[in-house]
Amino acid sequence: MADWSAGQYLKFEDERTRPPRDLLARVPLGEPRLVVDLGCGPANSTALLVERFPKAEIIGLDSSPDMLGKARARLPRCTFIAADIGTWAPAPRTDLIFANAALQWVRDHPLVMRRLVEALPAGGVLAVQMPDNTREPSHALQREVAAHGPWAENPEVKAAARGDLPPPEVYYDLLKPVCSHIDIWHTVYEHALASPQAIVEWFKGSALQPYLSPLAAGERAAFLSAYAEKIAAAYPPRVDGKVLLKFPRLFVVAVR
Ligand SMILES: C[S@@+](CC[C@H](N)C(=O)[O-])C[C@H]1O[C@@H](n2cnc3c(N)ncnc32)[C@H](O)[C@@H]1O
Repeated sequence: MADWSAGQYLKFEDERTRPPRDLLARVPLGEPRLVVDLGCGPANSTALLVERFPKAEIIGLDSSPDMLGKARARLPRCTFIAADIGTWAPAPRTDLIFANAALQWVRDHPLVMRRLVEALPAGGVLAVQMPDNTREPSHALQREVAAHGPWAENPEVKAAARGDLPPPEVYYDLLKPVCSHIDIWHTVYEHALASPQAIVEWFKGSALQPYLSPLAAGERAAFLSAYAEKIAAAYPPRVDGKVLLKFPRLFVVAVR
């Protein structure tokens, strides 16, 4: 995947940091030794871990140089490493692996989750949150625009759509045999954003990235303009002129 833009991602930092807060609130650990933030991004989730576990060694991991640069500047006392979640393995004294809004990008992520849980010591925790929003208009319209433009035959654009998450039962059946306890739930956030254009800006920092990065500047602008028009029709203004972005997310807290 092309590099991410930390600046674009952080335009909605408040909203984007609420799910990791909700996830962390359900992590049943007192004083973990080593905590790893997988797909740490610009360290907004890592900062929550530092606040909750001030005595722990905390490491952030990401594959994006831009995100890692922002993360190191924000939390100079933490260690940030460049690595691929798909092949990374935890050190033996890792008590918490935290992965907020990252594993959905990793191929065969349920199997990766099982491998990570199996590598934890007894009582260790894998805490995961992933957007479960691929059936929302925000995503259906990305696929629609991708299929009907001069970019429609571009192989990278064709491969850009993220697949639906499997249902909770799949995670439960895969993880329970190697866990003492599992907590799985959905939360549907209703983010009040300033305008339909704000929805476009939101996804420019995440799900639109794989569609846009293979395109030249002119095509990118045309893609965004077609998407913005459809978004405006799908998300009408509420009483105060804002729009509500419905955002379902799946949470899994698995205890080894
Ligand atoms: C949506 S951001 C999440 C940032 C942060 N954890 C948060 O809670 O807001 C997803 C991050 O996962 C990273 N990422 C995606 N696939 C990855 C992979 N295979 N290995 C490592 N990092 C990855 C991206 O670079 C990006 O910074």
